[in-house]
Amino acid sequence: MVLKTRWTLQAGLQGLGLGLGLLLFGAPAPAATITIACGSNGQDHASCKRHTDDWARKTGHTVKLYVTPSSTTDLLGVFRKMFAAASPEIDVVMVDVVWPGLIKEHLVDLKKYSKGAEYFHFQAIVRNNTQEGKLLAMPWFTDAGLLFYRKDLIAKYGLRPPKTWDELALVAQKIQKGERTAGAADFQGFVFQAKAYEGLSCDALEWLNAFDGGSVVDAKGAITVNNPHAVKALQTAASWVGTIAPAQVLNYGEEDARGVFQSGKAAFMRNWPYAWSMGNSADSPIKGKIGVSPLPSAVAGGPRGATLGGWQLAVSKYSKNVDAAADLVMYLTSAAVQKERSIQGSYNPTLRSLYSDREVLQANPFLDELYKVFQAASPRPSTVTGLKYPEVSESFWNATHEVLSGKATAQDSLRRLEARLQQIKRGAW
Ligand code: GLC
Repeated sequence: MVLKTRWTLQAGLQGLGLGLGLLLFGAPAPAATITIACGSNGQDHASCKRHTDDWARKTGHTVKLYVTPSSTTDLLGVFRKMFAAASPEIDVVMVDVVWPGLIKEHLVDLKKYSKGAEYFHFQAIVRNNTQEGKLLAMPWFTDAGLLFYRKDLIAKYGLRPPKTWDELALVAQKIQKGERTAGAADFQGFVFQAKAYEGLSCDALEWLNAFDGGSVVDAKGAITVNNPHAVKALQTAASWVGTIAPAQVLNYGEEDARGVFQSGKAAFMRNWPYAWSMGNSADSPIKGKIGVSPLPSAVAGGPRGATLGGWQLAVSKYSKNVDAAADLVMYLTSAAVQKERSIQGSYNPTLRSLYSDREVLQANPFLDELYKVFQAASPRPSTVTGLKYPEVSESFWNATHEVLSGKATAQDSLRRLEARLQQIKRGAW
């Protein structure tokens, strides 16, 4: 509210003329050019452009968009290089939920600018963004892995949405066979993320959770990944590759999986909530045909894994316009903008109040239905492993990729992963 008043005031002052502005507030801050890294796909880019343009109009500043790579692993590489050179090139950065501990020394404390606005966001995320008492990033949207499926095809074949991974394999197989016989030669049962990058760590953690195989490293720092449940989880996932999933899945990120699903060539897809609004966009061949559910469990009634994801916005310490950049961050993470992004882009808000907003729920029916899934989403072991998280995750995704591509058995791969993680830990995280 306070912030909204400030933007309205600024806009109003421009209208009233500089004289009155000077009288009331002293000399106005000179207009700045702010570069923001956002927009890893077409929809995201358009949304970022619209909202940053709005802010620029209201404040008199100029905004430039730095288009980000769609892989979070690549993006971290870009930011790390920029930070290492203390480069002021990008003022506002997107921060993955697993990064605040990694890049903390390069971000501005936003407390002075937030004026308590963080209180209205999910507190677990605010805590994750707070390092050594500093609020290093404002929550922008939150993510949890979901199962997307073709409602129309499930009905066509007289099936029901699967609740276990075995059911999913059966249902996917039936639909794939039927659609291929009917002429869609490249139709796929299931697509997901299995490229060797952070996204595979997210998918694999969901499989481990469903099979009660732990979270690689537990909350106390113990390396738990070499266990029979995790072995079973990876064996199950490996059995999909080349049967219900194309071999190319080994090179799929989120956008590759979405491309196949949205063009009508897959029955099931694991992805994040953003895929809902894109799949239902006016030009989507599968508009109105998408169902969403929690990811399957290993056994009926068992845990249904969902990895916690999500993004924040932060200001680089090397920015030459910290005040304006922080104002942009507060604007983009405000209720008004989060509401619009949720309605138009199905980005899950981080503000509690928006979960009872009628328009938000109407645009995203799954938000209400799957509220519990979002609340219970499992974090990756980034807090406990601290600065070593990127190495931990990379070792995990490589070990998983070897199993999925048939280069190693799950037993061997997880045994080697355990040894590798011990090496990385070297006594303490
Ligand atoms: C999504 C999630 C993010 C995760 C990434 C993996 O963008 O929000 O937390 O790291 O996917 O690809």
